[in-house]
Amino acid sequence: MKKLLELISEEVKKAFAQAGYEEELGRVTVSNRPDLCEYQCNGAMAGAKKYHKAPIMIAKDVAEKLQESTVFSEVDAAAPGFLNLKVKEEFLAEYLRQMGTAPKFGMNESGKGKKIVVDYGGPNVAKPLHVGHLRSAIIGESIKRICRYAGAEVIGDIHLGDWGLQMGLIIYELSLRKPELPYFDENFSGEYPKEAPFTISELEEIYPMASGKSKEDAAYKEKAMEATFKLQSGVRGYRALWNHIIKVSVSDLKKNYDRLNVEFDLWKGESDVQERIPGMVDYMKKEGYAHESEGALVVDVAREEDTKEIPPCMILKSDGAALYNTTDLATIQERMEKIAPDKLIYLADKRQELYFEQVFRCARKTKLVKPETELKFLSFGTMNGKDGKPFKTRQGGVLRLEYLLEEVYEVMLQKISENRDMPGEEAEKTAEIVALSALKYGDLSNQASKDYIFDIQKFTSSEGNTGVYLLYTMVRIKSILNKYREQGGTVENTQIAVTENEAAKELMKAIAGFGAMMENAYQEMAPHKICAYMYDLANALNHFYHETKILTQENESEKSAYIALLALTLQVMETCIDVLGFSAPERM
Ligand code: ARG
Repeated sequence: MKKLLELISEEVKKAFAQAGYEEELGRVTVSNRPDLCEYQCNGAMAGAKKYHKAPIMIAKDVAEKLQESTVFSEVDAAAPGFLNLKVKEEFLAEYLRQMGTAPKFGMNESGKGKKIVVDYGGPNVAKPLHVGHLRSAIIGESIKRICRYAGAEVIGDIHLGDWGLQMGLIIYELSLRKPELPYFDENFSGEYPKEAPFTISELEEIYPMASGKSKEDAAYKEKAMEATFKLQSGVRGYRALWNHIIKVSVSDLKKNYDRLNVEFDLWKGESDVQERIPGMVDYMKKEGYAHESEGALVVDVAREEDTKEIPPCMILKSDGAALYNTTDLATIQERMEKIAPDKLIYLADKRQELYFEQVFRCARKTKLVKPETELKFLSFGTMNGKDGKPFKTRQGGVLRLEYLLEEVYEVMLQKISENRDMPGEEAEKTAEIVALSALKYGDLSNQASKDYIFDIQKFTSSEGNTGVYLLYTMVRIKSILNKYREQGGTVENTQIAVTENEAAKELMKAIAGFGAMMENAYQEMAPHKICAYMYDLANALNHFYHETKILTQENESEKSAYIALLALTLQVMETCIDVLGFSAPERM
């Protein structure tokens, strides 16, 4: 479907042409003087020079051609040469009726035919999931859904950190604590136990402890590195133990991501591409991309036009070990072979910006990707506490994700229980849903690259630009629609139509902007644009609600038009929150 602004522009362009002027001058924008008009066209001013005419004369010529227009209810030529426009309600109503029946509200699916991999989440196995990974999960999930909504085929991959020193640390520490386990017996040739010799809580206690020890004790670290090396070179018992660690961690991670309403299509990790590293390294050497530098193997990625220094991309350390970026490059190779995406999107903290610049340049230079393959790093800022510093717990440590969710949940549950009489179980379920919206919207409503302040009181407030406010608005609509049904009405039989109501017209215009907004959110990979749109839409809805007798409206056709408008608003809002990655309760 064409965008509303396109249709409006077309109409004005036609008038410019009919009046003998260049068509292109008829471009229309949303008014920046809403007190005067809804839309405006400044083309007369732009054309003045070319036609040696006062702009107001041109504007008047065009306005005259628009008097009979079915699009505009008002066209004013205003000094020095503006065209001030108001649209006809019937035109809007017809547009909304079409939106209501078109798939995806008539949005242009500009992602159609594209295949996209979104690499997000990125937790490290055996290390507890902390708030640092929260943003990646929340933003990445929304990016994935936006791309999907825009018609693209999207594959979300968690890209687990499952191959580094942390694994060696855990294995070595376990060998000290439980030396009797068969995994450490080199002569053991039987089958290893099916059950892991530890629980998730043990694992989570082992890692920080071992990591702390390794920082103080060089010999300990040496041993942990040796264990890492043994694991990576395929020692049987170490591999078996590693499998246990992965399994226990992943099932715990799944619980956490489930609670966040985050789903991955692929649960691959850094370990999955280890086998292709030697081949990839050979290829880079043979083609002359990689060369030795101080014992290490590197690919130069600096360019002449660089204004800051971009160091070479290191492929192998001097001891021959592969690095974080070697794994990322091998993963790109694998994705190109197995998935062949048109675009790869990565989410990580903005501190990894230079890192991804190096990796992307290296992937291009070594032709791991096609020249037309898009590589995109979506960086995000830090979640800060009220003191403006990275968010910490009261004890000062990094707050674990579960505790954070739990905290928001508790506040929400209390608010819900205070506000209304609801059976305990329903209150708990509702609090869970609403808490997620508070947390996610608090994050997504900011431009991702910026830092933001985690403010639990603000996020859980039912007023202002919050997820909770949006859900309240949606629940309000649901409740009106339910009452309409109780009165014997059938929502599905109502039709959007012209009404007497000014606020309804504002709401109609807000709804009509959906397609343009969503397409833009896709082009710019910007969930915050959806948030801003929803906030405006919710405000328009609430303004309408406060100004209007809806259920007590005596004029039945007027009432039915209101109901249809509310139902469409709700559908649009449902779509938006789904794309953002949360849902709405029935009541709250
Ligand atoms: N595991 C990494 C971390 O915790 C994030 C992974 C980001 N993705 C990637 N393909 N490198 O920092």
